[in-house]
Amino acid sequence: MIFKKNILCIGAGYVGGPTMAMIAYKCPQHRVTVVDINPSRIAEWNSDDLPIYEPGLDEIVRATRGKNLFFSTDIEGGIRDNDIIFVSVNTPTKTFGAGAGMAADLQYWEKTARQILQYSQSSKIVVEKSTLPVKTALAMEKILNYTKSSVSFDILSNPEFLAEGSAINDLDNPDRILIGCRETESGYAARETLVEIYANWVPREKIITSNIWSSELSKIVSNAFLAQRISSINAISALCEKTDADITEVSRAVGMDSRIGSKYLSASVGFGGSCFKKDILNLVYLCQHYGLHEVADYWENVVRINQYQQERFILNMLTTMFNTLAGKKICLFGFAFKANTSDTRESPAIYITKRLLEEKAEIVITDPKALKNAKADLAGVEGKVSFVEDPYKAVEGCHAIAVLTEWDVYRNLDFQKIFSTMTKPASIFDGRNIIDHKRCFDIGFNVYPTGKPALTHT
Ligand code: NAD
Ligand code: UGA
Repeated sequence: MIFKKNILCIGAGYVGGPTMAMIAYKCPQHRVTVVDINPSRIAEWNSDDLPIYEPGLDEIVRATRGKNLFFSTDIEGGIRDNDIIFVSVNTPTKTFGAGAGMAADLQYWEKTARQILQYSQSSKIVVEKSTLPVKTALAMEKILNYTKSSVSFDILSNPEFLAEGSAINDLDNPDRILIGCRETESGYAARETLVEIYANWVPREKIITSNIWSSELSKIVSNAFLAQRISSINAISALCEKTDADITEVSRAVGMDSRIGSKYLSASVGFGGSCFKKDILNLVYLCQHYGLHEVADYWENVVRINQYQQERFILNMLTTMFNTLAGKKICLFGFAFKANTSDTRESPAIYITKRLLEEKAEIVITDPKALKNAKADLAGVEGKVSFVEDPYKAVEGCHAIAVLTEWDVYRNLDFQKIFSTMTKPASIFDGRNIIDHKRCFDIGFNVYPTGKPALTHT
């Protein structure tokens, strides 16, 4: 079959895999190839056991793989044979040198730019899909257009807004597609090419365009605003616990103001995931770089409150369990950073496990999808940790349950049965406010929700 366009994506991760599967699914007239330097990841994409769990992903990969969707390790051939190249490599926080702990580590990104230059034999549109500091496209242009040859490159910014756990639905029905370009004739033409691809399934009014710097910055700002809402509600949850106000009631009352809106106002044990903290710290670093220290401080506090919320959770466990956790067995319900994903990157569960182990507690972890990643995260950590898939078995003999991920399966467990096998007094610390607190209290548990009065028998 002759395909209309040949599209490549460099980076077969949580973004590259699902986004390209969706483009292939919606555009059978185009051929889509995803490449990665990690051969085992590519092998998994080519197997029945995909490297990431995402509801609905299996179906669209099965419908397209081998037809117009291909996974490969041939980066050189991929660059040579495709006209549109998405770059979706990881951009973690830098861990060394200047900006360590804050700035984005752009080494993978720059390596990719150099590979594109090295292997290209024809002009290309290069699309920034990764989340990048504002002005990264300038660096990319400098690398790609350094040598004046007949091969030219147009850089576009097309940030991805999908959330894990709902990636397929988010890709299918996005709130918006944002495409930024250089304000030149060829920049506009490149942008139109990408608009045409998305227009295969996204209504035109949802495809918005801007200059390239606004597009790069909008992505980081969107994440910063979402995380800021969570830190705002979590900060108020601490006040609720002191005043007998109920965070769910406050959140509902506040969120019903249409100017505020109701989403991202669920109090929790803190936000996790690979991006919120990384992107805010990146924003903080950018502001510091431009001498905007007050602005930097403002955003850094969003991360500080998130840390505070996790530590508060631990201290609440400690004080309510007679100021010692040593030798006590605590079961963690959930290790993924949110429900419906196996991803555990920056999950509050990692910090909480390590802190509980410092207090010499014994930890039992249960999670329907994330135990493999949990084991990897905790490899080499000292202390007693076990991993048990069945929540009923996991709680046996435990003194407390800490609900850390809002998996539906935890909402409707048989808590009477669970209570009967636990050490008494048995406590539940609900870091997600998903279980029926009154019912568990009536069964006999001491219940400690987030941002609500505790229900205790003593
Ligand atoms: P990831 O770590 O899951 O995937 C990145 C992939 O890139 C890895 O498989 C890695 O092997 C590969 N890679 C790195 N360097 C390479 C190179 N030179 N050549 C080929 N492959 C290379 O990361 P991710 O979660 O998919 O995130 C990618 C980017 O998208 C980040 O900038 C992130 O901030 C952004 N983003 C992520 C999400 C999300 O939900 N995870 C959502 C929106 C945006
Ligand atoms: C987030 C954004 O929602 C996406 O738009 C963005 O594309 C993505 O980051 C990214 O750039 O990586 P994601 O991290 O996958 O997506 O998941 P979210 O649903 O946003 O949840 C993030 C964290 O916040 C989770 O730990 C979640 O449990 C927590 N959260 C979310 C709360 O604690 N309270 C809420 O009300 C909402």
